[in-house]
Formats: sequence, C-alpha cells, structure tokens
Amino acid sequence: MSEQLTIALSKGRIYKETLPLLKHAGIEPLDDPETSRKLILDTNHDDIKLVIIRATDVPTYVQYGAADIGVAGKDVLMEHGGEGLYEPLDLKIAQCKMMIAGPEGATVPEGRLRICTKYVNVARRYFAEQGKQVEIIKLYGSMELGPIVGLSDFIVDLVDTGNTLKANGLAPLEHMAEISSRLIVNKASMKMKHARVKALIDRIGEAVN
Ligand code: ADP
Ligand code: PRP
Ligand code: MG
Repeated sequence: MSEQLTIALSKGRIYKETLPLLKHAGIEPLDDPETSRKLILDTNHDDIKLVIIRATDVPTYVQYGAADIGVAGKDVLMEHGGEGLYEPLDLKIAQCKMMIAGPEGATVPEGRLRICTKYVNVARRYFAEQGKQVEIIKLYGSMELGPIVGLSDFIVDLVDTGNTLKANGLAPLEHMAEISSRLIVNKASMKMKHARVKALIDRIGEAVN
C-alpha cells in the first residue's frame, strides 16, 4: 500500500478557493463538503484524503500529524502559534486585513480599554507591545456587536470590503496585519513523506503564480 496523505481544509471560502489549486496539482475531491455530511472526503487518488474541519482547528490537526498538510488563514496561525508546523507557501487566497475597529467618530476613553475579539493572543501581544493596558474579552464571532451593546470599546477583527463594519456603525481605526491563507505542513511529514509533500508544494506553488 502506498503512503497516505491527508489534507485538512475548512468549509466555505478556504475550501472554495483551495479547490482550483488542488486541481492544478491533479487532486479532485469526489464529494462536496457543502452538501455532504462526510468529514473525510475521498479524492481521485486512493492515497489522498481531505478532512473537513473548523478553520481554527486546522493548525491543531497538522501540528499533531492528524493531517500532513493544511490550509489556514494567517490570522488563525498568528493566534495558534507555529509549533510543529512549516508554512512553506502563501496561497494568496482569502485575503483580508486584521484591524482594530470602533464606533464611527469614537474618542479613546480614559483608562483601561476593553476589546472584543476571537484573537485574544494576537490582541494581547499587540497592545502589550504598544504599552497599552487593555482588557480582552473572548468572543467566537459577531465581534462587531461588542461596541454597539457596550461590551467593549473596540474590536480586533478581520476586514475585507468593510461592509460588516459599516453596517454596524463601526469604522476601521488601525491596521494590524495583512492576512491570506497559507499552506502548512506537519514537520515530521515534511521529513518522512518528503518527495510527495515537496511535489505537492511545488505544484500548488505553480498554481498560485
Ligand atoms: P470561520 O468560520 O472560522 O470564520 P471563515 O471561512 O469565515 O471561517 O474564515 C476562514 C479564513 O478566511 C479566516 O481565518 C481568514 O483568514 C479568512 N477570512 C475570513 N473572513 C474573510 C473575509 N471577509 N474576506 C476574506 N478572507 C476572510
Ligand atoms: C468575516 C469577518 C468580518 C467580515 C469582514 O466574517 O469576521 O465579520 O468577514 O468582511 P467585510 O469587511 O467584507 O464585511 P464572515 O463573513 O467570515 O462571517 P462569520 O465568520 O461570522 O461566519
Ligand atoms: Mg468567518
């Protein structure tokens, strides 16, 4: 039996935008995760499977070797940390910015700021480097609601078109990082399955450029 290769992807924009890159590398899933309830998808290669998981879980699967390869947003990687992972390719998909945002025309209140975000580690580091005292409130989504309901002064979130901020009376205040999705590889897989992994990185790299 040939050695198995497992690729971790999340549903939605990452799956959709990774599909053409995989296709260029000759890999085509046999099922559609948007309609199937299967979490493991077979592909046109017997020895390549896709696992469909939450975006924030992708680095965990790859770090522990439950998947050899994955696609994860830089935001998720910044929050997770890079332990056990290589990040050989910027796929230039799912591009957006990580920003601080707050109520339109807001002035910075005195004292300790409150920040709603799902990126607690990134936010803590960022404000600490600026020497700002902040209280960070962890949320799992809809961060834009935080300042509206008085949960926080500001948010740290992703911004693309700015439509979500605008629709909720918020404005971008400070740019923190440019975000795109990255190919990540388990460090042991990079050694043990080197030829296959390297070939896949090269093919996907061609498709990006
Ligand atoms: P989740 O359910 O975790 O929010 P998404 O599919 O929305 O998963 O996001 C996956 C990744 O896509 C994020 O980690 C980020 O890198 C990127 N992303 C999120 N929102 C946007 C957006 N509005 N525009 C472009 N890229 C985005
Ligand atoms: C993301 C992000 C922002 C929005 C920004 O949410 O968390 O809310 O996109 O994009 P915009 O600037 O183009 O409006 P997403 O659409 O992924 O929704 P969810 O993660 O809350 O499901
Ligand atoms: Mg999202």
